[in-house]
Amino acid sequence: MPSPAPNSIIVTIDGPAGSGKSTAARTLAARLGFEFLDTGAMYRAVAWSCLKSESSPEDESLVSELTRSLNIQFQNGRLLINQYDVTDEIRTSAVSTVASVVAQHPAVRDTLVDLQRACAEHGNTVTEGRDQGTIVFPNADCKFFLTARPEVRAQRRYEEMPDDSDRPEFEQLVEEIRERDYRDANRSIAPLRPADDAVSIDTSDSNLEEVVQVMEARVCEKSGPFK
Ligand code: DC
Repeated sequence: MPSPAPNSIIVTIDGPAGSGKSTAARTLAARLGFEFLDTGAMYRAVAWSCLKSESSPEDESLVSELTRSLNIQFQNGRLLINQYDVTDEIRTSAVSTVASVVAQHPAVRDTLVDLQRACAEHGNTVTEGRDQGTIVFPNADCKFFLTARPEVRAQRRYEEMPDDSDRPEFEQLVEEIRERDYRDANRSIAPLRPADDAVSIDTSDSNLEEVVQVMEARVCEKSGPFK
């Protein structure tokens, strides 16, 4: 397994959809001056490509070949697939659903895990996903697991979506979140679960600032101040 850059610090943040981990991870990374890695966006990139090429997301060998053929890059906070900017297009409900299907394929995960480890070679990194503390960076310096009640998570997703005819009903979002949680937590490879040494934080009744402060204090306590 390629290791992170010598002396670089890895902070992992795992948790289910809508737990607030993306915003918290992005904010924490900016505050510490670390790189930020959104690994869910990589699975979404594969899902987007499946939908575009009308490939069946269930077909492991087809999807893994597709994954290997993609040039996935983060540039200035944008996600590019083969130089095409898909940052906004990967956030639809259809892409979310297909992402949790393609994420079940071991061969897809292998390719994306290699890419995630390569990204962390650039220096101090805050990385967020489902398996960052358990599988991808088991020796990370600091690990967090964020969670929140399903209704709270669905509400957050609902508020993020444009208020147009494509926005699903709130109840449908709760149902989709429960289904995705089930698939993510029960798949045979890299299921969603906290690492034994992760600090768990329930964000249902906390605001972003409170969550980030807890995490920042913990990182500084374990690895020293960075500013
Ligand atoms: O965090 P997100 O909603 O953008 O993730 C999209 C999907 O990708 C989600 O269903 C779970 C999957 N995923 C994963 O299996 N492992 C990761 N490290 C990140 C995301």
